[in-house]
Amino acid sequence: MDMGIAGRTALVCAASKGLGRGCAQALAAEGVNLTIVARTAETLEATAAEIRRQSGVEVKTVACDITTPAGRAAALAACPQPDILVNNAGGPPPGDFRNFTHEDWIRALESNMLTPIELIRATIDSMSARGYGRIVNITSSAVKAPIDVLGLSNGARSGLTGFVAGLARKVAPTGVTINNLLPGLFDTDRIAVTFEAQAKAQNISVDDARKQRMKTIPAGRFGNRDEFGRACAFLCSVHAGYITGQNWLIDGGAYPGTF
Ligand SMILES: NC(=O)c1ccc[n+]([C@@H]2O[C@H](COP(=O)([O-])OP(=O)(O)OC[C@H]3O[C@@H](n4cnc5c(N)ncnc54)[C@H](OP(=O)(O)O)[C@@H]3O)[C@@H](O)[C@H]2O)c1
Repeated sequence: MDMGIAGRTALVCAASKGLGRGCAQALAAEGVNLTIVARTAETLEATAAEIRRQSGVEVKTVACDITTPAGRAAALAACPQPDILVNNAGGPPPGDFRNFTHEDWIRALESNMLTPIELIRATIDSMSARGYGRIVNITSSAVKAPIDVLGLSNGARSGLTGFVAGLARKVAPTGVTINNLLPGLFDTDRIAVTFEAQAKAQNISVDDARKQRMKTIPAGRFGNRDEFGRACAFLCSVHAGYITGQNWLIDGGAYPGTF
């Protein structure tokens, strides 16, 4: 299917690895020119080179922390008027909420709620003026079914979700859509760290820890970044103009509810 977005411009945050990279690659495969962001310049440049080689699109890189005002300014200077904005950043650490400090909460809100809102604020009016815009926020299945040890994530991401639910309806007449992608378990560096911790805590091998978790997923496997990226590319396509304000769970059937 032709997604109808060749020649468009996308700003993809936190995109040198994992789910953000999957989105960047899938958009590039549709002919979208990219600005990709991550903190570590070396990994970011390697990813950009690989995407250019695979797709031939223009890929700009901005090595910065997107959760800081300076980082956002640098990203927006490189890509001031994207047609597509993919919001993403690292997730907050796990823990017991009794141990989270005020500063921990502020950091989580900055990363997973306020940074996406700031980037939306900086880009949405020009999308509306041009009559086309696609905003995709990478959130988490934790928005739909809270994860006990991820209170910071449950809270901060739900705040973003509530905010964009209202905004999506407001900008819908202008050709701009805003949707959220809710990953379940995907095989990225982030979950590798989780399994190492789980294996250590239970005194089992990392491989056994992975197998234990896989058994809890009806699909019998973890997701991969390419299939996540393809869902993102579809939401950014001309075919998805009537889909807005939605929360798409991509979790291999792990969420047990009917809706
Ligand atoms: N993987 C899953 O199963 C899963 C499930 C639910 C939710 N999520 C959420 O989805 C998001 C992406 O996860 P992932 O699994 O793709 O992680 P990942 O594989 O660790 O990749 C994270 C990417 O984000 C970049 N990054 C992190 N913090 C950044 C910052 N402050 N500024 C700019 N770039 C930043 C990293 O590069 P640098 O480190 O070089 O900056 C890297 O490119 C996270 O918020 C995660 O909590 C993931």
